[in-house]
Amino acid sequence: MNKISVVFVCLGNICRSPTAHGVFERMVAAQGLGDRICVDSAGTGDWHLGHAPDSRSVEVAQRRGIDLSALRSRLVSAKDFDDGAYVLAMDGQNLSNLEILRPTDFAGHLGLFLDYSANFEEREVPDPYYSGAQGFDLVIDLIEDASAGLLKHLKKHHRL
Ligand code: 4NP
Repeated sequence: MNKISVVFVCLGNICRSPTAHGVFERMVAAQGLGDRICVDSAGTGDWHLGHAPDSRSVEVAQRRGIDLSALRSRLVSAKDFDDGAYVLAMDGQNLSNLEILRPTDFAGHLGLFLDYSANFEEREVPDPYYSGAQGFDLVIDLIEDASAGLLKHLKKHHRL
């Protein structure tokens, strides 16, 4: 059976999307769904290609028991728009860039990741790159909430 592909996308692929990648992948594994859902992340900007996640994101995730250190930044590409894939943007700017890249025959889901968040009003994960430590805490709080909502959605709509 084909896996459902979930790709988280931000600007640099060193703060928000690797955090979502690590958080969601762990949630998927904890529910024994690693053979049904494939998790990845990418960026729309190329400044940090091949770099590990920002040390501030690594630390915040580490405190919640998640290791992001092996992830490496890469650019999003048309190949990420697999059949049935969920391509989820961290903010409206990244969503606009993805809409340009989206193949015309894409038969999947392109939208804002926080549309799956149930407990926060925010619809965008704020760019924490130039913020203090608090920015990174908010990022992971938003991501944990939306990850729970996304997994619930996938289980319901794909009968996992
Ligand atoms: P991200 O954060 O998009 O969450 O990975 C950023 C990382 C780097 C830059 C901007 C945002 N930058 O301008 O280099």
